[in-house]
Amino acid sequence: MQFPITALFAFAVSVASALPFHPVSDIVVSPSVTSPVAGAVWNIGTHQTVTWDTSAIPAANVNNTGLILLGYTTANSTSENLDINNPLASGFPIGQGSQVVTVPKVAPGTEYFVVLFGDSGNKSPAFKIAPATALTPATD
Ligand SMILES: *[C@@H]1O[C@H](CO)[C@@H](O)[C@H](O)[C@H]1NC(C)=O
Ligand SMILES: *[C@@H]1O[C@H](CO)[C@@H](O)[C@H](O)[C@H]1NC(C)=O
Repeated sequence: MQFPITALFAFAVSVASALPFHPVSDIVVSPSVTSPVAGAVWNIGTHQTVTWDTSAIPAANVNNTGLILLGYTTANSTSENLDINNPLASGFPIGQGSQVVTVPKVAPGTEYFVVLFGDSGNKSPAFKIAPATALTPATD
């Protein structure tokens, strides 16, 4: 049985246009942060490694660039105070699963967290930022 080629083409186009189209960029990637863990202590000026679960990242998205922001909460406020002007890291592929950051000079406190952005953000548990110590001098 033979179909005219134009009829096949028209059929293919009508099927394709009937399918919902999901470009790769619409896949929401929000890998969960596995480090820092709750209650971790980061001293100002030290290097710390943020890690995250890469198992849920689709292969097509492993080279999406990530962004890590520092935030904190305060009593009676829902604001995350994300420091978007001073990312801890940016431009790394989210498929690598870890990124070393330098702890910035911020007010010491126990309600800090990091948010890792792929396409969507994922927040770490709260951890503490402590003053720089004599044993761990700032290196940069
Ligand atoms: C991601 O980047 C690596 C290294 O450049 C490359 O080998 C790989 O094919 C890329 N994967 C995708 C899905 O773009
Ligand atoms: C937060 O709310 C509690 C209960 O209303 C209050 O006792 C406390 O002083 C508030 N803290 C701040 C920092 O506003």
